[in-house]
Amino acid sequence: MAWVRHDLDFLGGHRLRRTRQFGWSRAMVRETTLTPANLIWPLFVIDGTATRQPVASMPGVDRLTIDMAVEAAKAAAAEGIPALALFPYTDPSRRSEGGEEALNPDNLVCRALSEIKSAVPEIGLIADVALDPYTSHGHDGVMEGEIILNDETVEVLVGQALVQAKAGCDIVAPSDMMDGRIGAIRRALDSEGLEQTMVMAYAAKYASAFYGPFREAVGSGGRLKGDKRTYQMDYANTEEALREVEQDIAEGADMVMVKPGMPYLDIIRRVADGFSVPVFAYQVSGEYAMITAAGNSGVIDREAAMMESLYAFRRAGARGILSYFALEAARKLNG
Ligand code: PBG
Repeated sequence: MAWVRHDLDFLGGHRLRRTRQFGWSRAMVRETTLTPANLIWPLFVIDGTATRQPVASMPGVDRLTIDMAVEAAKAAAAEGIPALALFPYTDPSRRSEGGEEALNPDNLVCRALSEIKSAVPEIGLIADVALDPYTSHGHDGVMEGEIILNDETVEVLVGQALVQAKAGCDIVAPSDMMDGRIGAIRRALDSEGLEQTMVMAYAAKYASAFYGPFREAVGSGGRLKGDKRTYQMDYANTEEALREVEQDIAEGADMVMVKPGMPYLDIIRRVADGFSVPVFAYQVSGEYAMITAAGNSGVIDREAAMMESLYAFRRAGARGILSYFALEAARKLNG
């Protein structure tokens, strides 16, 4: 059949492909930007020296001893990454029912915070406030029977936030999803003369299958009894995320986070539109693992998928992204 050339008068002269013709014209009309300043790099730390321990489910991600983490911090700062988020792998001998190690001012994450802070003062340091690295049962709070106790957990979280802030943490990031922890932590920081310590609330954190590799990395996965659905959110909900964010802002959060990332871009957009507080996205371990596994098996172009995914967060309204790709992406952006 011969090709029929149709009359496209209905376009009224508009042809959206015109601006897509050249590299320069695409650059000129690009709506979203991504710079290293938008990237926060999560690091896993372990005890010891001069060691990097691969995380099997996250090829390219290693647990680092503190001296190696200092070097990683220097590399990140050199690329313009503004902050690191530190996660400790706690030795099983230091885990307990009540997670008391969280309150030890000399615990692994506190030592990492103070050593990185003194060696690389120009980079911001974020630490999770939650008990899962320290509990024998892998839950984020104190348990009684099957129940994760809310108010008793908040007590411990307040103490944890204080030891971390005193060790040099610039931003405490409660990731536990207990009710009322933001306000309790804010008040305690203020009363201890730590009114400049920032709080980034994991405000809308969903009970998710995408945290699997992280739990392997911090050694809490194998021990977790049951799931976290009595405190983390149901993935079917949106309105509830807005209530969580509203509540955390009312309690004093400086910044909020939505987590996981890619399957929750709709939540990021609604939070960004609905509130004037900076909103961050966490591209979690399972997302990193999926992109990397597909890339390594030749199914997708890993680096292209990495950049596309990071831009997608920015397009959805995220001010910044916590991502295991942060250093690699920053290097690519800096060319
Ligand atoms: C712990 C915590 C988790 C993550 C960050 N902080 C796991 C969980 O809640 O079970 C997940 C991060 C990731 O998957 O990359 N409260």
